Amino acid sequence: MHFVPESGERKLPDPLYTLDGDRVAAVEQWRQKRRPEIVELYRTFVFGREPLQRPSTLHFHVETTPGMMNGAAVRKQVEIRYEGSGGEGSIKLLLFIPTNRTKPSPLFLLINNRGLEHMDPERENVSPFWPAETILSQGFAAAVFNNADVDPDEHDDFQNGVHGIFDSKSEGRSPDAWGTIAAWAWGACRVMDYLETDSDIDSADVTLVGHSRGGKTALWAGAIDERFARVISNNSGCTGAALARGKKGETIGQINEKFPHWFNENYKWFKDREYELPFDQHMLLALMAPRPVYVTSATEDLWADPESEFLSLVYAEPVYKLYGLEGLGIKRMPLPDSPMHSRAMGYHLRTGKHDMTEYDWLQFITFASTSQ
Ligand code: GCU
Repeated sequence: MHFVPESGERKLPDPLYTLDGDRVAAVEQWRQKRRPEIVELYRTFVFGREPLQRPSTLHFHVETTPGMMNGAAVRKQVEIRYEGSGGEGSIKLLLFIPTNRTKPSPLFLLINNRGLEHMDPERENVSPFWPAETILSQGFAAAVFNNADVDPDEHDDFQNGVHGIFDSKSEGRSPDAWGTIAAWAWGACRVMDYLETDSDIDSADVTLVGHSRGGKTALWAGAIDERFARVISNNSGCTGAALARGKKGETIGQINEKFPHWFNENYKWFKDREYELPFDQHMLLALMAPRPVYVTSATEDLWADPESEFLSLVYAEPVYKLYGLEGLGIKRMPLPDSPMHSRAMGYHLRTGKHDMTEYDWLQFITFASTSQ
């Protein structure tokens, strides 16, 4: 393995060397060889292999209500339905589109992992976790789906959700079979299948946002589906943005013990063996390139480990440079509440707890607006 020399004791694998030891010096080589290699490593060792992409049974049912948000929005409630050998399922997408748009709207899509109270279709309960009114006031459409529609967030031995619908019952589970995060990411891709059919939305300008376990999911969805124009990973920590090597707070051993359903079986082997991973999370971030990527931390979120989240972006930067894009251009953690970004990469450390707030969203909106 080739290591990034300046990564010191963390001994990070160099994203720009192939497994055969060839140095990647051109975008073409990254795209043809190294990028697919890294995606494959993540399928094999972390998130698992999804048994299918778009199901042939996929179809959409849309209900449209104008005059929402005091006339500022059109609401669409979309059911994204699918069927497999184990039954049928659906994702309920809630979408608000600015009424006075002159062209298809760019959109923020949130993978909601915090329950239905954050996505009130009537807008009687307005949550800072998904401030749809603010998003619309800045000229974007806002969409959200609940991760549990796709797959329940519990270890049910993969009997329910899309696992129950699509996994083969005759063969046993293989050690690289998809886990629940891969299932949620698959759900985000199916939402994108719908968005591509909606002429009110600019499907080439969709920013995918996720918080924590949803932030891990957003990164994996961005890796396997390049239709997402931008990815924002908020407080995503272990197996999200944060480097595994040298990480403080949650470890691979702990995350697999508490949430065995999130990842595949192979990943469990890396408990206390972070230094044997043939990759680290800067390489997951690098899979977003050349699309803009934004990472956040919170000062009190030590479980996620702000510094390991920040450094991941720093070490992903060489891949963006290969594309001729600027990264953050700094190597030390910025001060709290001092957001910084280039057109391609962004970061902020918010004062406070593990959460996603209106402050975070305002930075995402600025970032998306400047990288359009
Ligand atoms: C737990 C878990 C984290 C995860 C977080 C969340 O704390 O250990 O890995 O990011 O839940 O999703 O809020």
